[in-house]
Amino acid sequence: MISRVSKMHPLRLCLGALAVMSFVSGISVQPSSVGARAVTSNPVLYEDFADNDITRVNDTYYFSASTMHFSPGAPILQSKDLVNWKVIGHSVPRLDFFDDNAYDLVNSTAYIRGIWASTLRYRPSNKKWYWIGCVDWVRSFIYTADSPTGEWTQAGVINNCYYDCGLFIDQNSNGGGGDTLYVAYGGGNNLSVAQLDAAGTAEVSNKVVWSYDKGREGNRMYKKDGFYYVITDSPDEGSQLIVRSTDPFGPYENRTFWSNSIGSPIAGTGAPIQGSLVDTPDGHWYFMSFAWAFPEGRSPVLAPVTWTQDGWPQVTFNNNNWPTALSFPLPASTGPLQSWTGVDNFKSIGVEWEWNHNPDNSAWSINNGLVLKTASVTDDLYAAKNTLCHRILGPKANGTILVDISRMTDGDRAGISMFRDLSGYIAVKQDGSTRTLVMRNNINLSASTPGGTCCWSTSNKGNDVTTASVTGNQIWLRITADVAPTGSNQAIFSYSTDGTRFTVLGNALVLDNSWQFFMGYRFGIFNFATKALGGSVTVKSFAHVSARGS
Ligand SMILES: *[C@@H]1O[C@H](CO)[C@@H](O)[C@H](O)[C@H]1NC(C)=O
Ligand SMILES: *[C@@H]1O[C@H](CO)[C@@H](O)[C@H](O)[C@H]1NC(C)=O
Ligand SMILES: *[C@@H]1O[C@H](CO)[C@@H](O)[C@H](O)[C@H]1NC(C)=O
Ligand SMILES: *[C@@H]1O[C@H](CO)[C@@H](O)[C@H](O)[C@H]1NC(C)=O
Ligand SMILES: *[C@@H]1O[C@H](CO)[C@@H](O)[C@H](O)[C@H]1NC(C)=O
Ligand SMILES: *[C@@H]1O[C@H](CO)[C@@H](O)[C@H](O)[C@H]1NC(C)=O
Repeated sequence: MISRVSKMHPLRLCLGALAVMSFVSGISVQPSSVGARAVTSNPVLYEDFADNDITRVNDTYYFSASTMHFSPGAPILQSKDLVNWKVIGHSVPRLDFFDDNAYDLVNSTAYIRGIWASTLRYRPSNKKWYWIGCVDWVRSFIYTADSPTGEWTQAGVINNCYYDCGLFIDQNSNGGGGDTLYVAYGGGNNLSVAQLDAAGTAEVSNKVVWSYDKGREGNRMYKKDGFYYVITDSPDEGSQLIVRSTDPFGPYENRTFWSNSIGSPIAGTGAPIQGSLVDTPDGHWYFMSFAWAFPEGRSPVLAPVTWTQDGWPQVTFNNNNWPTALSFPLPASTGPLQSWTGVDNFKSIGVEWEWNHNPDNSAWSINNGLVLKTASVTDDLYAAKNTLCHRILGPKANGTILVDISRMTDGDRAGISMFRDLSGYIAVKQDGSTRTLVMRNNINLSASTPGGTCCWSTSNKGNDVTTASVTGNQIWLRITADVAPTGSNQAIFSYSTDGTRFTVLGNALVLDNSWQFFMGYRFGIFNFATKALGGSVTVKSFAHVSARGS
């Protein structure tokens, strides 16, 4: 469904356009511990956690992912076994990069800008965590923290775009018990390695270490048995490549890691591409790649890795297919299991939530639920501040909110959206003192060139399809979504006055399953004003159920 070859070309075009625009802008596990594992097949997590960079600290694995225009950005997941993950925080507390207001949704938007293909590492020498990412194709930002759960702060800005970067912390390389920080990066034909200063917040030098007549992405750097390895995906070549050298600055020799003709564990998607190589404390190796499973998003898929006698890693495939069942040995699971579904009563905003762009923190609070004051006067969902978004656990899921609408005011719209570049919603709208339910479809955000990946703006604010009368102070609003690539790709909107019997409103949103927006569909809870600020709603609960279970 997603052709890898066609995947990258538009981004290249987009990069050119952006340059011109110049943004100111097993341990062999015994069956007993396998039994503790909830997930038994790929994807290990059927949610949109793209561009994973996984690193191990002692017996714990950490996973960093892309979030683009969502804030906070760069979620961190934790696991003891590479299969059961939980979100523990974010490396980028606020999208605070440039002087423009786009990330705050003030007069412009920053869709698909922000956080992508970044890197996370723990540095033992100073006990700090580092996150590095190129933002807006022009500069790289460095965030550090004493703990992965924060507090994260911006520690440096480097005037070089570390495109699709991988940080590697080389221990003892100077013989004195110290370390040296290298970043492998490159989006065009060149693979580069930069060396950072002792603080890890400025560049000392950079060098093109390997060139190829085809473009690259997803760069990750590792060291094993005296060799530096860089994994670098080549979409035009149609393969994942790997290069190695005894010196971080080369010369590098190359090999094909795997060809993109291998089958995916998620039906209807192309070969998994990019990801992270990771080892266990006792020396077993794995690769966590990801499948491009739109409309759901890009979901992590795991496979075992062995090393050839001459020192190259190779993924263990099943007859040219990425493994579907996790029947191979896995690290013992001793970590907590997190449920990805359930009911959230908003005692706080949990780490699994992210806002569409930076929130206006003066316009929300916790008070017997999530109080959302209107934060924008607009008739455009994509311009409205404070839409709170939640990933959807594939392949099919329901997202249901219970919302107190008693403090809405004239012109307000509050509800739940199926939120992506083609969106729809069910909402309560107030006209004068009359409240009605409305289903709105075809809310369209478009790239500046058809099939392109950049410069997204609203091309259609959508149209109200059906209304229904509403009485009372609270209402349940539900989205029933089939986000599997081979599913119906539809979202159905319904409401209830008792939380049990739901009535469908309007027609189905036909989900966009193209890849160009990069982020997958999310449930987005919103409240915006079309006339004047002042109204509010209280979201009492959000219930997430999935055909995948928990
Ligand atoms: C990793 O384990 C070592 C040895 O037990 C310990 O000194 C160190 O603090 C641990 N590191 C972290 C980040 O937990
Ligand atoms: C946003 O646009 C309005 C209307 O043109 C203008 O008054 C305001 O100054 C702008 N805000 C910023 C931060 O640019
Ligand atoms: C690649 O690197 C070479 C130097 O090794 C440089 O001359 C060339 O401009 C680079 N190409 C790109 C597209 O950056
Ligand atoms: C990649 O490896 C092949 C086989 O060793 C070699 O012929 C080719 O020159 C290498 N390509 C580059 C760009 O280093
Ligand atoms: C999801 O919602 C639909 C429509 O209300 C309902 O028929 C279905 O039972 C719900 N699924 C679950 C698992 O609750
Ligand atoms: C969204 O807008 C774009 C640009 O106008 C258009 O090409 C596309 O067909 C629209 N999508 C839908 C579903 O209307």
